[in-house]
Amino acid sequence: MAKILAVVSQKGGVGKTTTSVNLAASIAALEMRTLLIGIDPQCGVSSSFNFTSRENKYGIYDLVYYKVPIVEVIIHSEIKFLDVIVSNVKSSSEEDILNQTMKANKFCLKEILAEVVKFYDYIILDCPPSLGAISISTMIAADSILIPVQGEYYSKESLARLLQTAKEVSSMYNPSLTIEGVLLTMVDFRTNLGKKVCEDIRKAMGEKVFSTIIPRTVKLAEAPMIKKPIILSDINSKGAMAYLSLAQEILAKNEERKTSEDNN
Ligand SMILES: Nc1ncnc2c1ncn2[C@@H]1O[C@H](COP(=O)(O)OP(=O)(O)OP(=O)(O)O)[C@@H](O)[C@H]1O
Ligand SMILES: [Mg+2]
Repeated sequence: MAKILAVVSQKGGVGKTTTSVNLAASIAALEMRTLLIGIDPQCGVSSSFNFTSRENKYGIYDLVYYKVPIVEVIIHSEIKFLDVIVSNVKSSSEEDILNQTMKANKFCLKEILAEVVKFYDYIILDCPPSLGAISISTMIAADSILIPVQGEYYSKESLARLLQTAKEVSSMYNPSLTIEGVLLTMVDFRTNLGKKVCEDIRKAMGEKVFSTIIPRTVKLAEAPMIKKPIILSDINSKGAMAYLSLAQEILAKNEERKTSEDNN
């Protein structure tokens, strides 16, 4: 059964899409069957790959609204263990419809994913920068949330609001929802601000903060232009190493959890 991990933050530009794409690619590179889904209607995920218009024909919109079978929506990427679903929302009215559909049936994503959980080890969901119906449905469908926090700016209030929302989703709809971890992204260690944000986050969230820190690098900023996850464009770069290290950290944590569950 796949572990379903939602990359969530209501803040824009904190690295949700970069993390979803590069974490999914790195987990797949470690030979875990992985499905990456761009839930965000502005779908950064589709622009991070060089899919043909035929491959991009269907997406989450067709899945949720037109009920196109999921096997027709899944795209096999050039990475052996990585499949992708893009959002394929073409206008703001389609975005409204997607929001309304997910608001009317909060469990629709959970129901859709139930059809494929047995075929994957990890399903990674890239959320929009809001805590509206789409992110709520995603948190209802997820086993855990990964929260990227930008190393140059940290708002206690905004993190508290996200954690409170996750708590509400958990108590109302999804009691098994956990926090996978808080990920520091775009950190520039040469600046005092970068170091201070890392310290503040570790003070506030302790063990919940991943040991892996994603540095600010030009190669990661360029990856969407190259339309490839960074492990394909430059496996030896700092950004690729960081996301591979994050993938290993997540795999190790989940292996530990599975072993202790099996022993109990
Ligand atoms: N580690 C990094 N180093 C340098 N640039 C980065 C890094 N991570 C992300 N970026 C760049 O920062 C911008 C925002 O990143 P990204 O799109 O992943 O954020 P997001 O949270 O998905 O944004 P949105 O909320 O708009 O969906 C992008 O231009 C991306 O290429
Ligand atoms: Mg994004």
